[in-house]
Amino acid sequence: MKISDIDAFQIFDSRGHPTIEAEVTLDSGIRGSASVPSGASRGKFEALELRDHDPLKYQGQSVFKAIKNINGEIREALMGSPVANQPAIDQTLIRLDGTENKSRLGANAILAVSMAVARAAANSKNIPLFQSLGDGRGCLLPLPEIQMIGGGAHSGGRIDVQDFMIICNGATTYAQCLEMSYNVYKHCGRLLKQRNLLAGLADEGGYWPEFDTHEAAFDVIMEAIESAGYLPGKEVSFSLDIAGSELYAGGKYHLRLENRSLSPLEFFNLIRQWCANYPILSIEDPFSEDDRDNWARLTQDVGSKINIIGDDLFTTRVDKVKDGIANGLANSVLIKLNQIGTVTETLECIQYTQEAGWFPVISGRSGETEDPFIAHLAVATDAGQLKLGALARSERTVKWNEVLRIERSLGDKAHFLGAKLFDRNLAR
Ligand code: PGA
Ligand code: ZN
Repeated sequence: MKISDIDAFQIFDSRGHPTIEAEVTLDSGIRGSASVPSGASRGKFEALELRDHDPLKYQGQSVFKAIKNINGEIREALMGSPVANQPAIDQTLIRLDGTENKSRLGANAILAVSMAVARAAANSKNIPLFQSLGDGRGCLLPLPEIQMIGGGAHSGGRIDVQDFMIICNGATTYAQCLEMSYNVYKHCGRLLKQRNLLAGLADEGGYWPEFDTHEAAFDVIMEAIESAGYLPGKEVSFSLDIAGSELYAGGKYHLRLENRSLSPLEFFNLIRQWCANYPILSIEDPFSEDDRDNWARLTQDVGSKINIIGDDLFTTRVDKVKDGIANGLANSVLIKLNQIGTVTETLECIQYTQEAGWFPVISGRSGETEDPFIAHLAVATDAGQLKLGALARSERTVKWNEVLRIERSLGDKAHFLGAKLFDRNLAR
């Protein structure tokens, strides 16, 4: 089946900012549509999200230029293309754009079309997206990382560490992970409220706290885990996204909360201390992408027990992951579709990561839409882990719920490794 029309328009993301929805129509009349997310703490090497920057239109945030690119040049270039050949379509998009970071047409324009093509292809085969993307693979349900407390760019810098999350490493099914996370999240909210430390919800649905120290955040989550009846470390562990680049300036890490600036070595020691004092299973972006020595040192030190995940460090790019592997900078890769800008390149990065014995973690963004595409991507690729923020706010739950639906549809074929996933990989 061939593409007979492409149409895009402006919608709003979970922060209320404009974003793009694209719809691809095939000559059979079958359609597929998709919408794209938007990050707040971005890596230097991410593909470019094209915005209009016209103060008179949505205070500069509108995406009409990107939409014009879809409805004009991109539509023209893809008319008549066979929808089943995603790599060829994505190659055409990359070539048409012609820049290193997709800045001419906009990565938001390119990705919206690439994802809508993947949907239309699945619809044309009358199979679910995860099956179509998986092409024979796709039975492994992911282990979720679920946010309890939101910080950094997601809560006005109210606490410096961006995500305090949990991983239910004691769970034996995906559904049980959600139940356990629900229990810990609700206890955490209750404790914060009782202590007058709750200011609301942050961008990804975790609590927006009023702490004076980072240790206070660890302690309240520890207490929530225990109040919910779970053993910290054995059944429920911590996962952090420090978003280190956001804290790094002039060769130092600046912790606003505690009003101190730390040298890279001092910051390394602080993280090592957290690892010694709390049951931490994963740390994402512990350091700035420019502080490579610290990345290698931490991986060397704790990488056999802890997932060290590169987000801003790798920006879903195979060349960056290759460099990370050669230099032992991490052992896991955060995967975000809009960091790289096409479905094909995202699949390539996941595959490259897996073949190296590293862990891919499929991730949403802080500005999300109602599109559950990444729930399908996680299952399709047997990625093993999924990160979407909290178990709250519909732009998050739409994706957690989609995995529940996939679990039901797979029936006996559904497979869940949970934290056993970490036993079988070579890099840890
Ligand atoms: P972002 O946050 O979408 O604001 O970049 C998510 C993350 O850093 O993982
Ligand atoms: Zn991150």
